[in-house]
Amino acid sequence: EDTLEIRSSLLCWYDQNQRVFPWRKQTTEIESYNDDKEDESCDRAYAVWVSEVMLQQTRVATVIDYYNRWMEKWPTINHLAQASQEEVNQMWAGLGYYRRARFLLEGAKMIVEKGGEFPQTVSTLRKIKGIGDYTAGAIASIAFYEAVPVVDGNVIRVIARLKAISANPKESTTIKIFWKLAGQLVDACRPGDFNQALMELGATICSPTSPGCSICPVAGQCRALQLCQSHKLESVTDY
Ligand code: ADE
Repeated sequence: EDTLEIRSSLLCWYDQNQRVFPWRKQTTEIESYNDDKEDESCDRAYAVWVSEVMLQQTRVATVIDYYNRWMEKWPTINHLAQASQEEVNQMWAGLGYYRRARFLLEGAKMIVEKGGEFPQTVSTLRKIKGIGDYTAGAIASIAFYEAVPVVDGNVIRVIARLKAISANPKESTTIKIFWKLAGQLVDACRPGDFNQALMELGATICSPTSPGCSICPVAGQCRALQLCQSHKLESVTDY
């Protein structure tokens, strides 16, 4: 039914339209440089962690430069664990919310002290200081293929429209509902790509005030769009 359609349409759209970011290494690229699957996933986890923390409350265009400079200075979690708070703060200057930088350093130290193996599941990632539901879901699904959801403001808006749910997206009970719905929706074979596709759709097509329904890959499964086409709503932005 709808869920299967949404998964396949969204993944197909993402394969053809995903934006190129330095933290999105293509599979073929990784394969050609590194034979060790274990190492590769942990490098990926570190890259996802740094980028997702930077992306919280900062625009993508700004994050790219900061991310590249950060990875040049601290290419692995072992490098970061040896940095000082002053160095990290200096690198972070301009991004704001310095708590995020402090958590990255503290988290890196914690992981390296425990033997350096990157936690691979949401439940173990959540034990690292500063890693919350969002970051844990992103790392587990993108780097380790755990079939868990990731919910941010974009994902809430996309799912609210797909399912025609009008509820205050700022309330904690509402947010819980969206985590549950996102968990039912996530594609078990490609959870990381699926989660990123949802975020990407929200960032590029399913925008808050002028969604591009005419080019949306899941317009056919969107209940808000159906309602507004049957004149029960002025527009999908009512969600
Ligand atoms: N916004 C935050 N993280 C993202 C990601 N991994 N892909 C697309 N948009 C995002």
